[in-house]
Amino acid sequence: MVKCMCGIIGCLLDNKRAAPVLLNCVKKLEYRGYDSVGIATSSSDIKIKKDSGKIDDVHKNLDLDDLPGDMGIAHVRWATHGLPTKENAHPQTDCKDNIAVVHNGIIENYKELKDQLIGEGHQFKSETDTEVIPHLIEKYVEMGNNLESATRLAIGDIKGSYAIAAICRDEPNKVVGARKESPLIVGKGENEYFIASDAPAILEHTNKVIYLEDHEMVVLSEEGIEIKDIKGNVIKKEIFTIDWTPDMAEKGGYAHFMLKEIHEQPEAVKKTLLGESEIKKMVKKFPDFNRVCFVACGTSFHASLIGKYLFENLVGIPTDVSLASEFEYSADTLDEKTLVIFITQSGETADTLKALRLVNHMAKTLAIVNVLGSTVTREAEYVIYTRAGPEIGVAATKTYVSQLACIYLLAIYMSGKMELMEKLQNIPEYMETALQKEELIKEIAQKYKDSRDFFFIGRGFSFPTAMEGALKLKEITYIHGEGYAAGELKHGPLALIDEGVPVVAVTPPGKSHDKTLSNVEEVKARGAHVIGLGSSEDGVLKYEVHDMIEFEDEIDEMFSSMPYVIPLQLLSYYISVMKSIDPDKPKNLAKCVTVE
Ligand code: F6R
Repeated sequence: MVKCMCGIIGCLLDNKRAAPVLLNCVKKLEYRGYDSVGIATSSSDIKIKKDSGKIDDVHKNLDLDDLPGDMGIAHVRWATHGLPTKENAHPQTDCKDNIAVVHNGIIENYKELKDQLIGEGHQFKSETDTEVIPHLIEKYVEMGNNLESATRLAIGDIKGSYAIAAICRDEPNKVVGARKESPLIVGKGENEYFIASDAPAILEHTNKVIYLEDHEMVVLSEEGIEIKDIKGNVIKKEIFTIDWTPDMAEKGGYAHFMLKEIHEQPEAVKKTLLGESEIKKMVKKFPDFNRVCFVACGTSFHASLIGKYLFENLVGIPTDVSLASEFEYSADTLDEKTLVIFITQSGETADTLKALRLVNHMAKTLAIVNVLGSTVTREAEYVIYTRAGPEIGVAATKTYVSQLACIYLLAIYMSGKMELMEKLQNIPEYMETALQKEELIKEIAQKYKDSRDFFFIGRGFSFPTAMEGALKLKEITYIHGEGYAAGELKHGPLALIDEGVPVVAVTPPGKSHDKTLSNVEEVKARGAHVIGLGSSEDGVLKYEVHDMIEFEDEIDEMFSSMPYVIPLQLLSYYISVMKSIDPDKPKNLAKCVTVE
């Protein structure tokens, strides 16, 4: 089966060709998938251009924007199974190419539906699960339904997750959309209407959006936007105004989104800290908790690990951290006295959402999220927004430090240790100085770019920072990187340390410093090349290591996570560029992981 974690767009414009607009919008969704792209527009009949490859390459060959008609749909695909081929690219169509559909999600019962439809005479052209949808719609249209009710009947037959947009040759001024467990928003411009997987895709055209819930449908037509439930009843929905601007989703002179987003981090933290009063109010309303549990994936999981150290050190409350994908296997000890904190930049990660749905009604839930109106924000009891702005690079950077800023605020307010606020407010300044190390980091990247393995070590608060450094390296350089608790090295991985293996030691001043230093000596004795991150006053560390990245002495380990991660992000970024990899679009990865 060909599963997708894709981006979809649909639009109905007012006397303006849709294809250039669809191309522009779908480019903004490229972070969601980039192995195939396709556009379908409708005028007298449905015209489609699609192929496998990155959008710019396919556009160069096919002139994707050269299609007639003022309405249409588009798709960018990221396949987890099956080949990215022209046939498997969306839009997918029915037997007569009268109906075209784009889809993000997985149709779990596609095989039985496909067999049944083939038995009824339908002819399939792709290996995708999606293709059953246009054929189902075709079947219901032939039974006398219009596009809207045929789509409603078709999704009634489907098991699985979907955000879809469908058009039909015979109803040339209509785009129908529907969602279940995959994100879908509706955009309301001046006499032009959009549906999209997320808001940045359409920001150039409108910042007025409606968030669809599961089992809701939308019809875009000349009369405007109509949202309906699965039974066809019209529902009134709130229109949100997004305060993100279109240029926030542009590169702004940087070579890559990732580099721009790394540089935006001090500002992102500053803005997130402005949310202090909301957190203060929220904490006042909290009941007494006797346990905290963080749930997240990937980089958000690393932010959660820092949360554990903070909550246990500051709030003095037992704190667990669970990978969202593992959560269901250990969830049943929670109760009303537990606060479960879900960290997710996208608010759409399937594993995190599943864990949230398991916990709701068992314990109190709080979500820390970057995307306004995303599914997690609608299902958690309490929500804190990070204020990082749109993050386009697949590797999380500014959303990570913004999550950390929220966690620090929460821990400070829950502990009542307000004297720490000053230290927190200084962090953006320290992050600015960390960014000034760029030239030095480029030199270090040049030196170690051909290494086969990297180790990142740290203790306490620096252990998650080491893990995050290793994850960034793996994601965007394809070099093997291990983030290890420095004290664990001698329990196994030390056997992998040989002459010249780079070991990045995260060694800020504090309780863990001296012990990490002993581990530095341990790896040096086996021939490792050590890159030290530590205080500019740390003469011993400077003496021990081969390369040193210095920070202000005032940054102790408890407050090191935000500034200290910056050189690690930059190191991976520059190695990636030196290896001619596109750091914004690493292979096999997508920004928003909406499949379990
Ligand atoms: C790494 C990265 C991923 C995400 C993970 C969770 O750079 O981006 O590891 O952190 O997929 O995503 P969210 O935070 O959207 O739940």
